Amino acid sequence: MAHTPIDEVFKRGFIKFPGHHGRDCSDVMDFFNGRGVNYDNDMKIVTYTAPEVAAQKAASLVSDKQKEIFKVLDLGAGTGLGGAALRRAGFLGDMSALDGSAGMLKFAMEKGIYSDSTEHILTLSNPLPYSDQSFDMAIGVGSFGKAMMEPDCLQEVLRVLKPDSYIIATVRMYTEIQDYKVRFYAELDRLEAAGLIKVCSREKFLHYKWEEVSDKLKGVASDQYGEVLALQKPAGLN
Ligand SMILES: C[S@@+](CC[C@H](N)C(=O)[O-])C[C@H]1O[C@@H](n2cnc3c(N)ncnc32)[C@H](O)[C@@H]1O
Repeated sequence: MAHTPIDEVFKRGFIKFPGHHGRDCSDVMDFFNGRGVNYDNDMKIVTYTAPEVAAQKAASLVSDKQKEIFKVLDLGAGTGLGGAALRRAGFLGDMSALDGSAGMLKFAMEKGIYSDSTEHILTLSNPLPYSDQSFDMAIGVGSFGKAMMEPDCLQEVLRVLKPDSYIIATVRMYTEIQDYKVRFYAELDRLEAAGLIKVCSREKFLHYKWEEVSDKLKGVASDQYGEVLALQKPAGLN
């Protein structure tokens, strides 16, 4: 039977995602290197809401003046959908794109919204190539997840943020990636207990609209919900 367009996107974008098959971050980068060309259109077909949700959350936390001047880091910028949503929400300052996939970053830079781009795979042992307190905000839209940015990278993100700054992260946390959710919240608890982070808000939202995907395809990748988190580096921390 012929598959519908949403089924085709679901197969190439989600069922084939290496993180669902026990593979590691370098496999995920290879996967994304081949995704850039279809990515934006595919995300329209699955009604990918996370960039807009993250941008609205970011905009709700800062003043109009801050939106004009804030220097923002887009972690796992991909093709730039998160950055584009921030621009629409009124963030006008410098925006740096970081991603481990050159194939995705190429499309991000074509959007003309970033000040600079850096190809870099962020892991605990491969820290960010920025000096301490370089940014006023960081976003991670769809980039914290299994075989992608691990929770232990949060501390490194805090290092490059100025005190009082926010990290806005969207994370898919239901059904098959429960183990990631456990690790993510354990790391937040650890950082909070150490006084290194404040969890300001955590809200569930519909990350994709997958009702029209054929039931027989949904299987393991059926988590269409995510959470948007606002995390803050406390004032007075270096
Ligand atoms: C699902 S895409 C999201 C892209 C974009 N933020 C968006 O919302 O459309 C995840 C992106 O994160 C990048 N990524 C995942 N793990 C990474 C890591 N550890 N270091 C750098 N980039 C990573 C991938 O290459 C990919 O471009």
